[in-house]
Amino acid sequence: MNNQPIGVFDSGVGGLSVLTELRRLLPNEEYLFVADQAHVPYGLRSREEVRRYCFGIVDFLLRHGSKLVIVACNTASAAALQPLRTIHPDIPFVGMEPAVKPAAEESRRGVIGVIATEATFQGELFASVVHRYARGVKVVTHTVPGLVEWIEAGETEGPALEARLRLQLQPLLDAGIDELVLGCTHYPFARQALQNVVGPDVKIIDPAPAIARRTAQVLAKRNLCSVDGAGSVLCFTSGDPDAFSRISRKLLEVELPVRGIRWPAGSATEGELFESEGEG
Ligand code: DGL
Repeated sequence: MNNQPIGVFDSGVGGLSVLTELRRLLPNEEYLFVADQAHVPYGLRSREEVRRYCFGIVDFLLRHGSKLVIVACNTASAAALQPLRTIHPDIPFVGMEPAVKPAAEESRRGVIGVIATEATFQGELFASVVHRYARGVKVVTHTVPGLVEWIEAGETEGPALEARLRLQLQPLLDAGIDELVLGCTHYPFARQALQNVVGPDVKIIDPAPAIARRTAQVLAKRNLCSVDGAGSVLCFTSGDPDAFSRISRKLLEVELPVRGIRWPAGSATEGELFESEGEG
């Protein structure tokens, strides 16, 4: 039993799709959520840069007592999950990997689509997932430039977004996919728009519920479950706290408390992320 918080982080609001599933399955846990909105999108940055940000965020979450850290970002998991486990061998980490396994198992036509950032596709993690789980199944990958930015702005639906997505996803439809894996934690917020574009015959897979189940297993195995916690959430953003509040309210229809955090002088190295004075 352990009532310390669970740390969760993403480049932005995308990780809230994972946080929602965590709170549904583990409602007694306390959560600290960091959105590195000063640097979103991570998908356009180098692996070294994303790694440095992840190291700084994890250091912040550990200084605030996190007992387990969830890397609620596919791009960050691809860049930093292994080094984080090496640097912090005593801390359990749960990372994201595109849900190729269930998609490959369920595909009737043997053709699945995965959408994610370029950085996610380039990482060894994605190659290893495809190697392990997609035997005999064709995996068609595609980036969706701009979608993270739309969601960061709270734009998750409407004809303009769908028209853009239709153009971007046409190659996947032409390839005959019948499963579409959401390989970025922002994308579940545009799930309805994506479903409208790919049509009812394509099943969309969001890995967030599986990540919540995996977290529950890790907590139980290590005897880290909270028994009488109040189930609170405290968010931090390196961007604008008011904007985070507004967008998260729109996406989740709940009010989340948020405080500002700052990277010094626009750069990030381990341990330099601090709470801003007088915000929140
Ligand atoms: N939520 C991140 C992911 O899962 C977004 C990527 C980005 O910031 O570009 O990959």
